[in-house]
Amino acid sequence: MEDIILEARHICKYFGALTANDDVSLSVRQGTVHSIIGENGAGKSTLMNIISGIYKPNGGEILVKGKHVVFRNPNDATKCGIGMVHQEFMLFQELTVLENLMMGFETKKLGGFLNKKQAAKDIQEIAEKYGFSIPLDKKVSELPVSLLQQVEIVKVLYKGAEIIILDEPTSVLTPQGIEGLFQAIRYLTKQGKTVILITHKLKEVMEISDYITVLKNGVVTGNLTPDETDEHKLANLMVGRQVLFNTQKHEKKIAEPILEIDNLTAFGSDGTEKVKHVSFSVRKGEILGIAGVAGSGQGELIEAIFGLRNPESGTITYKGENITTTSPRRKREKKIGYVPQDRISTGCNVHANLIENCIMGYHVAHKFKTPWLLGKEEASLFTRSVVENYQVKVQDIHNKIGDLSGGNIQKTIVGREFSQNNDLLIIEDPTRGIDVGAIEFIWQKIIDIAQEGVSVLLVSHELGEVMELSDRILVMYNGEIAANLENTPELDEKTIGLYMLGGKT
Ligand SMILES: Nc1ncnc2c1ncn2[C@@H]1O[C@H](COP(=O)(O)OP(=O)(O)OP(=O)(O)O)[C@@H](O)[C@H]1O
Ligand SMILES: [Mg+2]
Repeated sequence: MEDIILEARHICKYFGALTANDDVSLSVRQGTVHSIIGENGAGKSTLMNIISGIYKPNGGEILVKGKHVVFRNPNDATKCGIGMVHQEFMLFQELTVLENLMMGFETKKLGGFLNKKQAAKDIQEIAEKYGFSIPLDKKVSELPVSLLQQVEIVKVLYKGAEIIILDEPTSVLTPQGIEGLFQAIRYLTKQGKTVILITHKLKEVMEISDYITVLKNGVVTGNLTPDETDEHKLANLMVGRQVLFNTQKHEKKIAEPILEIDNLTAFGSDGTEKVKHVSFSVRKGEILGIAGVAGSGQGELIEAIFGLRNPESGTITYKGENITTTSPRRKREKKIGYVPQDRISTGCNVHANLIENCIMGYHVAHKFKTPWLLGKEEASLFTRSVVENYQVKVQDIHNKIGDLSGGNIQKTIVGREFSQNNDLLIIEDPTRGIDVGAIEFIWQKIIDIAQEGVSVLLVSHELGEVMELSDRILVMYNGEIAANLENTPELDEKTIGLYMLGGKT
């Protein structure tokens, strides 16, 4: 049996009156993949933040290779060979990959200047050794998430990590991206590195883990291996009930087009054409899903539709009005809601409290000059209703949204957009980072909202999600619509998968 490389004993962590970790013990064996699973707010990220020196525990101890360690800061953990890739990436958008990787790193020339050449050489070597291929001179803002993630992993390897913690690394990856990541993980563990993985995707947990620990309400509720369990049992352990992923659909009437896209072309941040002469329409009450391999143009397409990206040519018509160049703010006034893929930089203001975040956009839609002209009472009421209806785990709505767990931030943003009487919702990866129990719930909300006549344009990297929810599915490939399919029971993943890869059936 493998040696224990990392041990956490009786870890406790409190945030005010809230107990995030309650007497948590964990043993991780060298060269293995150890998954940590649990509901949103169960305390997974908190535990990992303690192990990587970001938070100090209120009680308990950590041992690395049998030795007691006390981390005063993340650097102390780095020195002990612990590196973490966070749930929300921590890269500087305007810097190059190399500059990001060198950040806070001391490959210095005499005189204290950073030696870029040497660093580039060292980083290239590490990347090659572990099978990563990353463009060092490109700006971070130009890279797709799958590559950013590799950058983050190479960054911790460059800092000498033996134990690599990955907090929900697969939540925005496509099946291909996940396969690539898993290959890298297997390769890393083969060479003796240890990987601690947090994910909500139980199929992946079963596939990649050597060991699994389940957390619930800050307490360890199970230590298992994939041989002794299955996806259903894990879901049950996590949320304490059966999870079926069944949604209730009713007959509904899909009416006239509400949004019409005609011959739309848009460029990506890297200056290349990402959306090429795309035309389609979304009808009242319809859920239109867009599937595609990451980077096929779907992100740019919805940014162009919501007004975050200028279309090069083409027209966008909404309720008969040309809104091609209308600003996002005006679009909100016209009852168009938006859930962006990146909840942190576009979806919310992490430093603001829940009330401010919940009425963000809402005050715009209702033409209040400032958020605070909306009565405080009314704002609190609205926020409470979002928190209650969307089961957001928060102690006090005056808390900063940035202090919520990742999944709970996501639920708040989805709840806000879904509660504002919008007529059209443009949503990207709405269940990103949400636990298996709550996914079922959000899916049902989307279906119910459409039932009431709201139109939904859904972009998701989860093909299963697109297939479960959509009335019709567009498949994007290389900036174009490769297929426009009615979502009938006969339609299967394989057919869509083929279109996604540019094949014709
Ligand atoms: N800095 C903080 N200040 C206050 N409360 C916090 C802070 N960090 C975490 N919490 C609280 O601790 C609890 C556990 O959060 P944590 O982020 O560990 O959950 P998680 O298991 O990672 O959930 P998710 O799956 O949603 O990412 C949550 O209720 C969260 O609101
Ligand atoms: Mg988390």
